Amino acid sequence: MRRCKFCGKESYIMLRSPRMALCEEHFVRYFERKVERVIKRHKMFPESAKILIALSGGKDAIAAAIALKNLGYEYECLHINLGIPGYSEESEEVVKKQCEIVGGKLHVVRLKELVGEGIGERKRGRQPCSYCGMTKRYLMNKFAVDNGFDVVVTGHNLDDETAFLLGNLIHWNVDYLGRQGPYLPKGLKLAARAKPLYELTNYEIRKYVDLFNVPVVESKCPFSRGAKSILYAKVLDEIESESPGTKINFVKGCLKNRNLFERDEEIELKECRVCGMPTVGDVCSFCRFWNLGEGVDLRVR
Ligand code: AMP
Ligand code: FES
Ligand code: ZN
Ligand code: ZN
Repeated sequence: MRRCKFCGKESYIMLRSPRMALCEEHFVRYFERKVERVIKRHKMFPESAKILIALSGGKDAIAAAIALKNLGYEYECLHINLGIPGYSEESEEVVKKQCEIVGGKLHVVRLKELVGEGIGERKRGRQPCSYCGMTKRYLMNKFAVDNGFDVVVTGHNLDDETAFLLGNLIHWNVDYLGRQGPYLPKGLKLAARAKPLYELTNYEIRKYVDLFNVPVVESKCPFSRGAKSILYAKVLDEIESESPGTKINFVKGCLKNRNLFERDEEIELKECRVCGMPTVGDVCSFCRFWNLGEGVDLRVR
């Protein structure tokens, strides 16, 4: 039997990087300290910040919510119901239960009520995942801005980030490489975005959540099958198992070298003619894609 490195009790988890066995109590401490260190290092939330956590129903976002609560932060939660038959109803139900447990006030935004249809409902000449990502980012930001939140917290983790990075390196998506990272600061009509689980893996997050008895959505989005990011994550898992520490060094290295990809000139943003949110063109990608003649109003009354 392996024993906890700190107290000698029976271990709950064996970590590979750094290599150590931990009991439940010391693992929770390790996990939450790691979250707090990332928050502090990247100056994610000042004391006074109004925090919104984006809850998908998955294990990552709820792990971020539990850790923030245990670290003494207060927040409200947002769930976006994407109108994907079966999957979205299940996700909304699970998020409601999660919020009862963590005690955060929950807001639900339903895509179908806003634009008349859900993700993947009609053929649109683009993979559902690509416009779903754009739609979620827009709605999280718009909800935060309309209701005075300073920062949107998401559950993106080390495995997600390294898979994104690899994909963006393979395709030399220089714009993305110049903007990626655990924290994007606030701008005009842009809430800050923070990823406090940036240095934690799927495995660590799963083991953390298992200790709190919260439900999580186990089924996968029906549109995620065959996504390239799944392949990149698999390849990275293989490298990590041969050479522990590769993933964390990869994200840290990319962050350190981000300036190589940053643009010298600032992109000039205008206001979307339909919704007034920042955009490079005349109409933002959300209003254009969903063919809106009037901006969505997400203010909570
Ligand atoms: P994903 O883009 O599905 O990998 O999710 C990354 C993060 O975005 C999650 O950890 C959540 O914080 C957030 N998120 C994803 N989907 C939703 C949703 N439907 N509603 C609210 N937040 C979401
Ligand atoms: Fe957006 Fe699957 S969750 S397409
Ligand atoms: Zn211990
Ligand atoms: Zn718009």
